[in-house]
Amino acid sequence: MEKKKLFIKTYGCQMNVYDSEKMSDAMIANGYEITDHSGDADVIVLNTCHIREKAAEKIYSELGRYKELKEKNPKLKIGVAGCVAQAEGEEVIKRQPLVDLVVGPQSYHRFPKMLSNLKKKQKLVDTEFPLEDKFRYLPKPRKKRKSPPAAFLTVQEGCDKFCAFCVVPYTRGSESSRPPDQILDEAKGLVERGAVEITLLGQNVNGYHFNTASVFYDLASLIRELTKIKKLKRLRFTTSHPIDMTDSLIDCFGTEEKLMPYLHLPVQSGSDRILRAMNRKHTRSQYLDIICRVREKRPDIAISGDFIVGFPGETNKDFEDTLDLCRNVNYAQAYSFKYSARPGTPAAARKDVLEKTKAERLSLLQGLLQDQKNAFQAKMVGSILPVLIEKKGKEVGQVVGRSPYLQPVFLDGTEALIGQIVSVKIKTFTTNSLEGLHNFG
Ligand code: 5AD
Ligand code: SF4
Repeated sequence: MEKKKLFIKTYGCQMNVYDSEKMSDAMIANGYEITDHSGDADVIVLNTCHIREKAAEKIYSELGRYKELKEKNPKLKIGVAGCVAQAEGEEVIKRQPLVDLVVGPQSYHRFPKMLSNLKKKQKLVDTEFPLEDKFRYLPKPRKKRKSPPAAFLTVQEGCDKFCAFCVVPYTRGSESSRPPDQILDEAKGLVERGAVEITLLGQNVNGYHFNTASVFYDLASLIRELTKIKKLKRLRFTTSHPIDMTDSLIDCFGTEEKLMPYLHLPVQSGSDRILRAMNRKHTRSQYLDIICRVREKRPDIAISGDFIVGFPGETNKDFEDTLDLCRNVNYAQAYSFKYSARPGTPAAARKDVLEKTKAERLSLLQGLLQDQKNAFQAKMVGSILPVLIEKKGKEVGQVVGRSPYLQPVFLDGTEALIGQIVSVKIKTFTTNSLEGLHNFG
């Protein structure tokens, strides 16, 4: 009998990419296979993001496109998973009746069961925060299922920080950390299936903490434990909050060779007044101090950040403070967004900054960040970087990998290089990538 096919499309952060993999594993264990074409699918799942209004709206326009498919194949089931599902629940079905199933990020281990229950019920919504640990209920990926050279591993989920603009504490729930033995097991499995690099994921990854019967683990001790896996060559972690940047974690950048010199540390604003209004729990100078201390341990580290412009009440002076902070830090790369009011968050009730002002500020900030990124890229020319080759490039005979600083690096080479760390002499750069030679002898 032909296997049923699942098409899954992922939006938003890396945790959603990871969750989609897990959902796929659960469906494969239940007799499905994965397809890259929505037209062939028996089940379509959109794994969604709710962080800004634009992200959420994208989902509804994508769903609209499936109308024809559903007319052609009335048995087609459409599921909405992830943070839009969690935040909007049955509203999703009210707004788009094509949807059969709504499943929040804490329930996706139940997804195959829900699908079979759909036969009896017309529509299903599950946005509970179940007491059971979903990771324990998910099937282990089969040995045959290869891991990409650079893999993700969720170690922590949820957030208790409640920044005034952010939906994450509501969509992903409160902070919880996975037991270290579960994480180590999963890491070993990934390495056996081909992973060379692992990025530890968490909405507040550096808030990771777990008490076993004998040992207390924080992110630093977890990293030290993971570095003992011989065939694992590189480690990264994302996303961190400044108030959880402990001394022992900062030390890791000096002592742990496998920990890559890259730190994504969102600041959101350079103004103390706005940081307070955002409920960020740290000041501008505390943030700058962390960056200084990290650089003492690892002078070449690439610093990345997140910024929001036009938060309610942000004046020109506040915005100037943000530009000034950027000049101080000198980012290797950063993400910046216009503030977007999210229903249910404290800031949503506050008076919004004019759209025109937001647009002007975003363009100024992005100009500065772009210049800093270009300067960081340019510095690489002439150097020899260890590059983990991840996949084929766009052109024939080309492969692409990542530098320690997370820059994509293009070079001539065959697929045989995939999964290897090779020395590459950097010849040229663009804002987003580097190009170099492998055999430069
Ligand atoms: N508006 C704009 N940007 C936001 N972010 C989170 N919530 C909002 C919002 N309401 C940004 C923050 C965060 C990143 C993931 O998304 O910069 O760090
Ligand atoms: Fe959102 Fe703030 Fe938590 Fe980050 S720390 S996920 S911005 S509430």
